[in-house]
Amino acid sequence: MKITKICCIGAGYVGGPTMAVIAQKCPHIQVTVVDLNEQRIKDWNDPDTDNIPIYEPGLSEIVAEARGRNLFFSTEVEKAIDEAQVIFISVNTPTKTYGKGKGMAADLKYIELCARQIAKVAKQNKIVVEKSTLPVRTAEAIKSILDNTGNGVQFQILSNPEFLAEGTAVTDLLHPDRILIGGDTTPEGEEAINALVDVYANWVSRDKILTTNVWSSELSKLTANAFLAQRISSINAMSELCEKTGADVNEVARAIGMDSRIGPKFLKASVGFGGSCFQKDILNLVYIAKSYGLNEVADYWEQVIIMNDHQKRRFSNKIVQTLYNTVADKKITFLGWAFKKDTNDTRESAAIYVADDLINEQAKIAVYDPKVSRNKMLSDLDYLETRTGEENSNALTILDDPYEACKGAHAIAILTEWDEFTTYDWQKIYDSMHKPAFLFDGRNILNTKELESIGFIYRGIGA
Ligand code: UDX
Ligand code: ADP
Repeated sequence: MKITKICCIGAGYVGGPTMAVIAQKCPHIQVTVVDLNEQRIKDWNDPDTDNIPIYEPGLSEIVAEARGRNLFFSTEVEKAIDEAQVIFISVNTPTKTYGKGKGMAADLKYIELCARQIAKVAKQNKIVVEKSTLPVRTAEAIKSILDNTGNGVQFQILSNPEFLAEGTAVTDLLHPDRILIGGDTTPEGEEAINALVDVYANWVSRDKILTTNVWSSELSKLTANAFLAQRISSINAMSELCEKTGADVNEVARAIGMDSRIGPKFLKASVGFGGSCFQKDILNLVYIAKSYGLNEVADYWEQVIIMNDHQKRRFSNKIVQTLYNTVADKKITFLGWAFKKDTNDTRESAAIYVADDLINEQAKIAVYDPKVSRNKMLSDLDYLETRTGEENSNALTILDDPYEACKGAHAIAILTEWDEFTTYDWQKIYDSMHKPAFLFDGRNILNTKELESIGFIYRGIGA
């Protein structure tokens, strides 16, 4: 089976970049990305590709090359499903906010809607690919809906989790560590797996394309994210101990990272991890473990989240304590709001929680982030429902210029590791601040000695 037409449901952070790269690397395949959100599709079709809705280094160039040639963005979901041989499901699967599993389980309503829509529209056999991160055995539910509500056509369900990280999505997609494809072990299942393998083999060497059964693939994605998040919580736990004992967490990370069994990556102590995946996937893992009665397994993984929440709270507490136990009416400037550098995504960003804590203490927060819009920041805070929208907008000032943002501040807090922060004229910033001028580096990106010699009272993480 040779794939010539692909449809992807969901034009978000996963679907958009993934399909753009498939289209770029496979000019013989027509790729149509559909979304219910008309504005999002309009933005993807913006004549100036710098205005596409997702900021990722290198992405707008790829969209410029492939869009209109074999890459299309559309709201005509049914037409695209009907025409495609392969349908990727890349819709969001947030943590449930209601009912059973509230706050823990993944909300699968968007996935189910997609499955029902595919079942309704499909008149020929199709391969349906789960791209969104899903609880183990979701493929079974999708299959049941497709088989019981469809028009009698055959569906093969594959699990093909995405391992890209935001901010490096394009590089990760072009040079993946591995591609994972799970499917049925029947001849039809294997045929579907091979068809998808052939798509990726256009630019990924075959020894990096792993094929497994569906459940292994689904669980591997959750496990990978759980392990990555666990490393961050582990180093963050050590950062608190370092602060008490006089050790330096950067030195500890370096020393352990040189052990080839441990490795140097993902050992950066921080104000806490954010992003759409880690917390959601671990909560999901915890929920699944509990649902099988595996309470020790659930408690073990839940500790990763507990530690991360502690790290965020510890950062805001440290600011309050250092500023003589009161931040009421003091101006605290946040450099960065995104959950990591090189993305405009703010989901679960530590900045949101630290701001919320400090506003509770009646601080005035000024924020500068090179990519995040004012509306996004305010809606992130409003989403917590701690106070009214009006109170949030009174407490938060958003500026386009970092020097303006820092002017008259009692303290600066670095929440995102944007490269540009390291290039600022820190003397100029110091001169414009209240004294003593405090600097809380939640990402350990600045040079302690240099800043202390200017006069800052500098507090990093874990030293
Ligand atoms: C993650 C996984 O890396 C990716 O494979 C998966 O597909 C989706 O989830 P993402 O959330 O986009 O990707 O970014 P990632 O680079 O993993 O960073 C997540 C969070 O951890 C960020 O807030 C980042 O700042 C933080 N982090 C990362 C640290 O605090 N320290 C580190 O050493 C690494
Ligand atoms: P992710 O990070 O997983 O890509 P996003 O929230 O960025 O998540 O993107 C998911 C996209 O899926 C959203 O743009 C949303 O509008 C879209 N979506 C959700 N359900 C459907 C559906 N049934 N049909 C089409 N698009 C959908």
